[in-house]
Amino acid sequence: MSFELIIAEKRGRVGLITLNRPKALNALNDQVVDEITAALNDFESDEGIGAIVITGSEKAFAAGADIGAMATFSYMDAYKSEYITRNWERVKTCRKPVIAAVAGFALGGGCELAMMCDIIIAADSAKFGQPEVKLGILPGAGGTQRLPRAVGKAKAMDLCLSARFMDATEAERAGLVSRVVPADKLLDEALAAAETIASFSLPVVMMIKESVNRAFESSLNEGLLFERRVFHAAFALNDQKEGMAAFVEKRKANFTHD
Ligand code: CAA
Repeated sequence: MSFELIIAEKRGRVGLITLNRPKALNALNDQVVDEITAALNDFESDEGIGAIVITGSEKAFAAGADIGAMATFSYMDAYKSEYITRNWERVKTCRKPVIAAVAGFALGGGCELAMMCDIIIAADSAKFGQPEVKLGILPGAGGTQRLPRAVGKAKAMDLCLSARFMDATEAERAGLVSRVVPADKLLDEALAAAETIASFSLPVVMMIKESVNRAFESSLNEGLLFERRVFHAAFALNDQKEGMAAFVEKRKANFTHD
């Protein structure tokens, strides 16, 4: 896979996407988002890939949507082109787990892109924020919706209304990120976490992702019912037979992802 503004490569069973627009701190224009979409399509259809990592540079995961590209937009330009939301949701619709490995700035659309992922692992240098208010706009790719679900109303309001940045320690305390690691270990940690996930049964991993996401879309009872149905379905898998046999026989499971 060859792209201009991202690098997409396979590392074992992990698909790695590195945003590569350093001069603009990985600002997300249409091309970057289209390339991420194309890479995700490839990784999703590749049976050899079990998990995906999206990362940026040491200085920036992504400093937001490309401000220059939308500076002169009219309402109709924004509405017709669906810029900022067009294609962005591909991260959300990906059925394989996606980890955001965040160092440096994750601002505006950069923070929103990270929040579309399933897990955020942050370097101790990471800074999260929704500073759109300073530009005379508001978050447009889920910031006002996913941030409160992740960190609660008070902190989400604070970040969106004051435009202040939140460092990695605060982000972990607030529940936005799952782990904070030294900056020079970020990619190794994220790839190791992804490789661990990819070593498990892919259909089970996909079921878990679907089920956890259900918790944000349904009442508790509906979610529990959904989980139980999917739990029962897992017993149709060869991987369930193998996983339990391996436990009983005190050996490592050899999942065949079916
Ligand atoms: N869009 C386009 N270009 C950007 C950018 C963005 N979001 N963020 C940074 N850049 C560019 C800068 O214009 C600059 O380019 P030049 O060298 O050609 O001038 C280059 O990246 C380096 O940036 P700085 O010189 O500003 O670097 P810094 O270290 O002094 O500051 C920063 C870093 C605090 C991240 C600062 O660049 C900044 O505030 N960026 C904008 C952050 C922002 O407002 N993001 C929200 C965008 S709107 C959005 O995302 C909408 C949505 O919800 C989808």
